[in-house]
Amino acid sequence: MIQPAARVSQVRYEIRGPLAQRAHELEQAGHDILHLNVGNPGRFGLHAPDTMRQALINNLPASDAYGPQCGIFPAREAVAIQFQERGLPATRFQHVLIGNGVSELVDLSLRALLEPGDEVLIPAPDYPLWTAATMLNGGRAVHYPCRAGQHFLPDISELATRISPRTRAIVVINPNNPTGAVYPQELLRQIAALAQQHGLVLFADEIYDAITYDDASFTPMATLATEAVCVSFGGLSKVWRACGWRVGWMVFSGDLDRSTDYRQAVEKLAALRLSSNVPAQWAVQTALGGYQSIAELTAPGGRLYEARRAVLASVAASRHLQLVRPDGAMYAFPAVRCGADAAFDDHAFASRLLETAHILIVPGTSFNIHDPRHFRITLLPEPGQLQQAIAAMDALLDELLDT
Ligand SMILES: Cc1ncc(COP(=O)(O)O)c(C=O)c1O
Repeated sequence: MIQPAARVSQVRYEIRGPLAQRAHELEQAGHDILHLNVGNPGRFGLHAPDTMRQALINNLPASDAYGPQCGIFPAREAVAIQFQERGLPATRFQHVLIGNGVSELVDLSLRALLEPGDEVLIPAPDYPLWTAATMLNGGRAVHYPCRAGQHFLPDISELATRISPRTRAIVVINPNNPTGAVYPQELLRQIAALAQQHGLVLFADEIYDAITYDDASFTPMATLATEAVCVSFGGLSKVWRACGWRVGWMVFSGDLDRSTDYRQAVEKLAALRLSSNVPAQWAVQTALGGYQSIAELTAPGGRLYEARRAVLASVAASRHLQLVRPDGAMYAFPAVRCGADAAFDDHAFASRLLETAHILIVPGTSFNIHDPRHFRITLLPEPGQLQQAIAAMDALLDELLDT
């Protein structure tokens, strides 16, 4: 038997773990499964804008060769312009690096930064890639709590107590996956000040930046972290519904003098993988400029807005569930209303729901929290499907909580 590396078995990524494998088996056996586990818009008929496809098709003949390791110029320049327009006029294309999705760039950015035992402050709950990539690159993930009782926002003084001499970076996911929290400007300013004071890198994962609801308003971390080393992440997967195209970017801002060596180290790692997917990079300029169709989905009457409304109404009527209203992103992170000491098992619940109702959700503890009462669902299906799914959860919880 070939022994795999121990560090890989420590990694948790249950969004596509054993439950998803079981769902696949059930599908192979002829069952329809409602996939509420992955934020994958294309799977629910939410597609990339036609003009992006056109950009890709028109440039396909020019895409056979490897591209530059940091990305093609028009894509890098389009992202730089977005940051200039956000109030960061010093941003240049050289500060932008394009990768195979934010996922790859998270890995490269941590690999280029961490020495063994270095610590990274990561929200809990988190998008578990951050914890996994920290561990795989020799670092230690130190989680700072973002509690439901505080709208899933961190407490700044508690966050400060997690900083040690080994801390190298703070990760902020805003708008947040899995909770849907949208961070207020003042809180972001305080986090930026903390990073600056302790010389930490700020990693701002902003892949959901244009997905907010009602009066929630997104503030880019880079606009506040003007003195710290700030690295912002964005991509085509969510706002432009092009997950499968595998295009993401990272942007250096703030104290650019202090980040030069680090940026060059990331570029060296990018060179080792030659280039990222070239054809889809041609769509970045088209995506970022002009009319932004995501607003049709997030405004009242829009698919994501109405899905969220259906979830909020269904949970409000539920006998067993409660929910902190998601203000952004494409998820809800409900909790089962039972005493904190009740022996509720989120994995057992998710597994029963899959077997009996053919609904696939992600147990809350998969997002690096201990409280086993939460689970994550996506807001991508039709509102009616979500209503039915929540009714099915309630029915199952009637059974589970009464026995
Ligand atoms: C917070 C967050 N960051 C990064 C990613 C990865 O995105 P990409 O498709 O660009 O790799 C995701 C995907 O769901 C995400 O939710």
